[in-house]
Amino acid sequence: MTPSALEKQLAAALESRQARHIQRSLPPSADIDLVDFSSNDYLSLSKSPELRDRFLEKLASTEQVLGSGGSRLLVNGSPHVDLENRLRAFFNRSDDPPISKPSPLPILATDALLFNSGFDANVGFFACVPQPADFIVYDEYIHASVHDGMRLSRARSIPFKHNSVEDLENVLLGLKGERPELSDGIGSVFIAVESLYSMDGTISPLPEIIQVAESAFPNNNAYISVDEAHSTGIYGPGGRGIVSMLGLQDRVFARLHTFGKALAGTGAVLLVSPLVKQYLINYARTLIYTTSLSYANIVSANCSFDFLESGRAEALSRHVLALSEHLTTTLADILHHSLTPITPDILSLPEYMQPSASSSPSLLQLPTPIVPLMTSYPRPLAARLRALGLNVRPITWPTVPKGKERVRICLHAKNSFEEVDLLVRYSMQWAAEVAVESSGLVSAKL
Ligand SMILES: Cc1ncc(COP(=O)(O)O)c(C=O)c1O
Repeated sequence: MTPSALEKQLAAALESRQARHIQRSLPPSADIDLVDFSSNDYLSLSKSPELRDRFLEKLASTEQVLGSGGSRLLVNGSPHVDLENRLRAFFNRSDDPPISKPSPLPILATDALLFNSGFDANVGFFACVPQPADFIVYDEYIHASVHDGMRLSRARSIPFKHNSVEDLENVLLGLKGERPELSDGIGSVFIAVESLYSMDGTISPLPEIIQVAESAFPNNNAYISVDEAHSTGIYGPGGRGIVSMLGLQDRVFARLHTFGKALAGTGAVLLVSPLVKQYLINYARTLIYTTSLSYANIVSANCSFDFLESGRAEALSRHVLALSEHLTTTLADILHHSLTPITPDILSLPEYMQPSASSSPSLLQLPTPIVPLMTSYPRPLAARLRALGLNVRPITWPTVPKGKERVRICLHAKNSFEEVDLLVRYSMQWAAEVAVESSGLVSAKL
């Protein structure tokens, strides 16, 4: 049978991706036997016998476990409401560091609303909360879900350079010039950032971002939204995230915490004011038109938050961050002293992760569970490491900008220092081979 026009179009798109070496595919299912340097299960809670036992015990003693019966607007399960109340209390705990400045924001993120995923929360929020004629100013590395929300939004969106407070300030001042009424508090500007960026392991300079936003818009019409998908469970008191760690919870408009990464669950909670929560219940289509989290998911999330509240996650996250420091310092040192010169295109750490990065303390210097190994050859490096038993994934355009290809290393509570040493040794062996090969090619050409 001759292929239809649609089949031809789809096949051509895939062939084009294949020709450019950017075709995506599902990883082989045997990955489970490899050492995990790839998943977002940072605290290794998905493999915690203690958490698993607690979850199974709770499931066995809970009446409602299957399904949820429909959208939150159809069946508002009391376990969902109870979890929201719990999370509202958890994320507003008063043992966090003192608030750095009295809150200028009229609408504080003090209420909690569950979504089926972080993706749904971002799409739902950005599609409906910014109003027509508002602006969304976003970090250029913001997650795809925010992009999808912005596409559906009636507000105009403008990027600023990744983590650049200076560029953000320029964009905000430019907006004020373009729309003088913003200075009078008429209209709103939303600023979308992540606390920890998933592909780069960079931490957002939140205090400076907030300061720039507040001074550009002293009438408090700049609203900051912080996606804590990758920092939840790792940073801050009780794993409450980087906003809490910095005592900035009263200066942000919305905070997103997801359950699917360090918490080994499914779902997400958006912390917003009661007014914004009511608005989302009325307008967020990713909340209204979908079956809500199953009761079993709610039991699972509660068990993970029990774990955080017990304080046991803190030792795990300390271990993860110690592994991260070990990886960056060992690799930087070996690269520096390598007898075979390794050029940065073959293997390098990003500049901000090198020990000499900066002498003045900055958030960027905090260790993070995500360490990108920069290389122009991410697929061959990943293939070598996988063949040697280490599960890593190559990251290429369009997930990261062209020229910024990498192998993304994620560190976990279950990883050991010995495994990190193996990762460094195998990566260096591969890099030395590539360096020798390419220098041979160069001298052959000469
Ligand atoms: C920064 C960020 N935000 C949101 C999401 C979506 O969260 P979820 O996996 O719960 O849909 C992700 C997941 O990849 C993420 O990395």
